[in-house]
Amino acid sequence: MKKRKILVTAALPYANGPIHLGHLVEYIQTDIWVRFQKLRGHECIYICADDTHGTAISIRAQKENRSEEEVIAESSAAHQRDFAGFGIQFDNYGSTNSPENKKICGEIWAKIRESGLVKEKEIDQLFDVEKGVFLADRFVSGTCPSCKKPDQPGDNCSSCGETYSPAELIDPVSALSGTTPEIRSANHLFIELEQLHEFLHTWTQDGDHLQTEVANYLKGHFLGDPASKEGAKPLRDWDISRPAPYFGFEIPDSPGNYWYVWFDAPIGYIASTQQYCDANGQNLDDWWKNPETEIHHFIGKDITYFHTLFWPGMLKTAGLNLPKKIHIHGFLTVNGEKMSKSKGTFVKAETYLKHVNPTALRYYYASKLGARLDDLDLSYDDFTSKVNTDLVNKVVNLASRSAKFVQQTGLSETYPDDGGLFQQAADAGHQIAEAYEQCDFSKAMRLILECADRANPFVENAAPWILKKDPEKAAELQDVCTIALNLFRQLMIYLSPVVPDLAQQAADLLGDPITDWQQSQTPLVGTPVAKFKHMMKRIEPKAIEKMTEETQAEQDAASAAAATSALASKYNDSAQPMIDEPLADECTIDDFVKVDFRVARVLKAEHVEDARKLLKLTLGLGGDEQRQVFAGIKAAYKPEELEGRLVVMVANLKPRKMKFGLSEGMVCASGPGGEEVFVLSPDEGAKPGQRVH
Ligand code: 2FM
Ligand code: ZN
Repeated sequence: MKKRKILVTAALPYANGPIHLGHLVEYIQTDIWVRFQKLRGHECIYICADDTHGTAISIRAQKENRSEEEVIAESSAAHQRDFAGFGIQFDNYGSTNSPENKKICGEIWAKIRESGLVKEKEIDQLFDVEKGVFLADRFVSGTCPSCKKPDQPGDNCSSCGETYSPAELIDPVSALSGTTPEIRSANHLFIELEQLHEFLHTWTQDGDHLQTEVANYLKGHFLGDPASKEGAKPLRDWDISRPAPYFGFEIPDSPGNYWYVWFDAPIGYIASTQQYCDANGQNLDDWWKNPETEIHHFIGKDITYFHTLFWPGMLKTAGLNLPKKIHIHGFLTVNGEKMSKSKGTFVKAETYLKHVNPTALRYYYASKLGARLDDLDLSYDDFTSKVNTDLVNKVVNLASRSAKFVQQTGLSETYPDDGGLFQQAADAGHQIAEAYEQCDFSKAMRLILECADRANPFVENAAPWILKKDPEKAAELQDVCTIALNLFRQLMIYLSPVVPDLAQQAADLLGDPITDWQQSQTPLVGTPVAKFKHMMKRIEPKAIEKMTEETQAEQDAASAAAATSALASKYNDSAQPMIDEPLADECTIDDFVKVDFRVARVLKAEHVEDARKLLKLTLGLGGDEQRQVFAGIKAAYKPEELEGRLVVMVANLKPRKMKFGLSEGMVCASGPGGEEVFVLSPDEGAKPGQRVH
């Protein structure tokens, strides 16, 4: 078999949110396919990265009072932790905000410019004056210009389906500040995709680069028929620039403009490969320019347009390898419905991992994934019963019912007569491999389980646990267990791309690492068998309930946080004061009570001769108790504004001798100083002398 060189990518997850079970369909599907290719002996690498640029990240950073870099670093660590938790193994996990990506974006951009595909156009956009940013479609809402339905997003109406630009919305409101944005025109750079119409037509329709339904969809909706030109519409110009401020890369020959996130995101595939090459002494061109290399992208159906039209167009123009295949999958539904936050089915990877075995999800997704774009349903009842029946009862049980009986003796020296079971399963290997190759994992799982269904009755009939009782039957017992464990091993080789951790346990048990698909064709004989360790627990419905409850609780907390943050954005309080003066070191309650704050009344306020900033205050603490305090509030208050007013003072501060007299405490005030000083006052009803706790 010819050794293939295969580069595989999964879509780059956005850095502004956590990985959930919906995402995992793709990363698991891709991981299985890559592991399968590696097991077949091909040179195959799995490349991914975080998709970090765009407005959403900036908004989150601003809200959380952090830099974008901090947000994306945290996100990348969380994503990689979640992926690792599900056994998803990348050969490189990069970031679109990397120097490699910036450089490659520049190179590809230069080629696109040279090809005459770029044009400039003035377009109207909504600008949030208060926040100082142009508003991306999803940060504006307003009344649909067509059907007049209120509260519609900036790109298309959920009621009548009309598409429009945000500037066409009636009564637009910025989601960032709640203010009315104004229309400002800005120069944007566009790629004239229509110039590549013919190329895209040929590329999408010939050569099996796309699933048939995808090729037909593109033909029907965008490209039309090349011969008759029927159904052909000019492809829309693609707006690939955004004016500052924007979190991304500035376009070198267009200062003040940044590449739109969707321009630099797929280039991240190449940049992440560059990092892989640098770490492994390889050459990028061997992956992205070598015609022998196969590029395979795995994506969800929502980003079809980007990957099947824009991306091949960019690659073609840049003189890089075009994808051999774009594998597109459907969405995840849970219990037959769209994932829902309120029903607790919008489960984060992290939450799942606290309650349920990741191997179970890998197997279940594999058993449901076909080569087409159908949505995949995770039905919890079906999930529980399928994993328990297939993996625990049919596969793992083969080992658990036989391994302990050959722990002392090891496997028989020659492979016994098994009535053709091993050979039958070996013969199925070809069809199983073909199903994996075609991404028809559900078929592969079905074929593998058919082998298990033949193996189990054998063990059932041979009943090693009964043979064990008769010392005369020791040789027969060893043979029966040798067969059972070999049939088990064969299943584990076939299943290893899907359940690598179980495969590892099988390899440990039999002292035979699984490294090559061909191992399924020859039985193992005369080797020792390790002590059997429990391999996989059954899934308990209780665990799923707990996972759902926790998801619901997370959701309730998130809704509460969103409600307070909506209030905060109503007041639109700036983050600046906390930035200017970050919180002091933590103190204990004992530290706090050392400071005695008291309510005090300003009995008298006077100017102090020669003092530029100070007022002299005489503060009453009730009865005859009085203190004299010099306060730096002269620029902000006239003495007569203060007299009679209640304030809060630090009453046990060690008196300090000043040039103008003794100061016996401090008045509490906020603000940076000068005219911006704000003296604190207690609410009506407070009495001078009361302690402030
Ligand atoms: O849809 C998404 O989640 C995008 N972040 C995928 C980008 S894939 C690639 F083009 F970078
Ligand atoms: Zn409408």
